[in-house]
Amino acid sequence: MRHHHVKNIGLAKEGLRRIEWAEREMPVLRSIKERFKKQKPLKGLRLGCCLHVTTETANLAITLKEGGANVTLCASNPLSTQDDVAAALVKDFGIPTYAIKGEDNKTYYSHIQAVIRSNPQITMDDGADVVSLLHKEHGDITSQILGGTEETTTGVIRLRAMEKDGVLKYPIIAVNDALTKHLFDNRYGTGQSTIDGILRATNVLLAGKNIVIAGYGWCGRGVASRAKGLGATTIVTEVDPTKALEAAMDGFLVMPMSEAAAIGDLFITLTGDISVIRKEHFIKMKTGAIICNSGHFNVEIDIPALKSLSAKKRIARNFVEEFTLKNGRKINLLAEGRLINLSSAEGHPASVMDMSFANQALSAEFLTKDHGSKINLEPKVYSVPKEIDEEIAKLKLQSMGIKIDSLTAQQQKYLNSWQEGT
Ligand code: ADE
Repeated sequence: MRHHHVKNIGLAKEGLRRIEWAEREMPVLRSIKERFKKQKPLKGLRLGCCLHVTTETANLAITLKEGGANVTLCASNPLSTQDDVAAALVKDFGIPTYAIKGEDNKTYYSHIQAVIRSNPQITMDDGADVVSLLHKEHGDITSQILGGTEETTTGVIRLRAMEKDGVLKYPIIAVNDALTKHLFDNRYGTGQSTIDGILRATNVLLAGKNIVIAGYGWCGRGVASRAKGLGATTIVTEVDPTKALEAAMDGFLVMPMSEAAAIGDLFITLTGDISVIRKEHFIKMKTGAIICNSGHFNVEIDIPALKSLSAKKRIARNFVEEFTLKNGRKINLLAEGRLINLSSAEGHPASVMDMSFANQALSAEFLTKDHGSKINLEPKVYSVPKEIDEEIAKLKLQSMGIKIDSLTAQQQKYLNSWQEGT
């Protein structure tokens, strides 16, 4: 049986250099690594991780290993792997890694199966594919699992659905819901890396373009603010009235996709939902329109519908497929509708992943304490403990050299009292 599956182990040298470069921007995770090295809180534990295999994830995996864990890693998306990083993880850090950029679906799932075969006691998911496969096909081994963590909005939604249906078999910590995760990673990370991915794939000027952002969650908010900052006329589409109102008051044009379809030059989906751009929209689009997705799964753009409307297709550039519709118009689909920021760019910068992965490392540690015993934690979705979230914010501020005020005794008393009024 294979103990790793990477594209080319010879790429390790470059991967190692880039892992070290990312580490410079990850001071919080670095401080956790130093403590883990001494205390070994994860000693002997088998950790099964399914994450985007990037330089930042490498730093997380190394931290977990320093904490004493036996880490097995696979990709959480077929297009997000950085092959040089996967090679370095195997060669320089001895971490069994199963990830190849561009792997087909069969290989993708065989890599998840490899992680499951490692008999994890803790799972660490980005999108809930390991948890889902474990529950569907390996129910017998879930009883040995202490708990898991989940990185992303889409994964948390899937897990909550499992909890609601009463099928979830072990506790999971929703890392995504920590403030030090979604307020920074989802907003500033996705905001920057999505634009980065689009620019690397297309090199188009965004100023003066009509950019349509589908979804105004934390990710959509981040991308919309960056698009506006680059001089684009920014349009938001939403199904949630409060979020739509917020987008309008943040200064964006808000309209249904049926109207936006006809005027958009560039479309970006970040909804977590299926078929957000579909047949009825494609047929209204201007020729030359560019469409891409920055949500977790490649279902937000109805690609089969786009194919069915098309007379021909060609590769216009790396990561750009140009579809010529039967009506003669051309539509450019980026990165096969997969996460644009991780497919044609490198994902979020290390500085935000620092906080996300600090939450992951500390949540894994949390699961190993008494709280992890089945007696205390039921098979439900849990928040990251508030103390962990606050500690990460404090450490990040410290690393940035930012000091803040603290409450005086008088202020504390005031906040705890109800007698004082006007
Ligand atoms: N998700 C988004 N950006 C990422 C990155 N750089 N590494 C791992 N997961 C990510």
